[in-house]
Amino acid sequence: MTYYYNIRMSELQLFHEKSTLIAALKSLRIAQKTVGFVPTMGALHRGHKALIDRAAKENDVVVISIFVNPTQFNNQEDLAMYPRTLEADMELLNDVKNGFVYAPKVIDIYPENTDFVPMNLENLDSVMEGEHRPGHFNGVVHVVHNLFEIVMPDKAYFGQKDFQQLAVIRALTKHYNFPIEIIGCDTLRETSGLAMSSRNMRLSVQEKQDALIIWETLQFIKANKENFNPKELTQQAISHFKNGKLTLEYLEIVDQTSLQLATNWEHPSVCCIAAFCGKVRLIDNLLL
Ligand code: PAF
Repeated sequence: MTYYYNIRMSELQLFHEKSTLIAALKSLRIAQKTVGFVPTMGALHRGHKALIDRAAKENDVVVISIFVNPTQFNNQEDLAMYPRTLEADMELLNDVKNGFVYAPKVIDIYPENTDFVPMNLENLDSVMEGEHRPGHFNGVVHVVHNLFEIVMPDKAYFGQKDFQQLAVIRALTKHYNFPIEIIGCDTLRETSGLAMSSRNMRLSVQEKQDALIIWETLQFIKANKENFNPKELTQQAISHFKNGKLTLEYLEIVDQTSLQLATNWEHPSVCCIAAFCGKVRLIDNLLL
């Protein structure tokens, strides 16, 4: 017997069971409701909330998944330190009346005796995050693929702060023919310019100040684009960055589509930065 869910939604609902979520979504689909999806790892901040509010506005219901995905962490300390704040997350989402929060069990994402979702990412994961965090995007592909299969949304929303991840997810969607529209959303920033991130919770007041060198460097690049070619500007920007206290992992100006190093300004490019602020790894980017 099929269990049909009461689709009169008036408050946020939390699901841990895959089967209950699927039943609820099935009832919505029968009633021809549209579903937006925002996958997250929790520790929600205003940046996530902007994605969720947009998804809630553009769809009849928004599903927000909260799952700290172990396989996308290539550093065990980073995984252990990742904030887990379900109660505060639910509080932040309190005003989302047409929302389902899905906090899956590990077994739903990693069913026993099944392999990792296969996908050859080709050049997309040989650079930047892929180069410095081996296996990271395989973990992202696995979890997003399995969440897409469970939620089957009409639209899925991702922050542009993870520029390379967005490219990987677009490739995943195409590869597996998911009928899902992928929507990239602008990065939300503090008034200081610091990109909002769950990792910012781990920064001290001083470190938040130190981290501003990332945004300053991105602004420096934008301001000097006319004066240098991408290779020269990268060198200038690295020198500028080194005036600050962070440890640079990479600073690259790449083609927005291929993610390969830009050699001229003919095609739209993006500058991506990854750096350590103390023990916290931060990323940011700016479209050029
Ligand atoms: O961007 C994130 O928070 C994660 O990489 C995602 C997309 C939720 C997959 O775990």
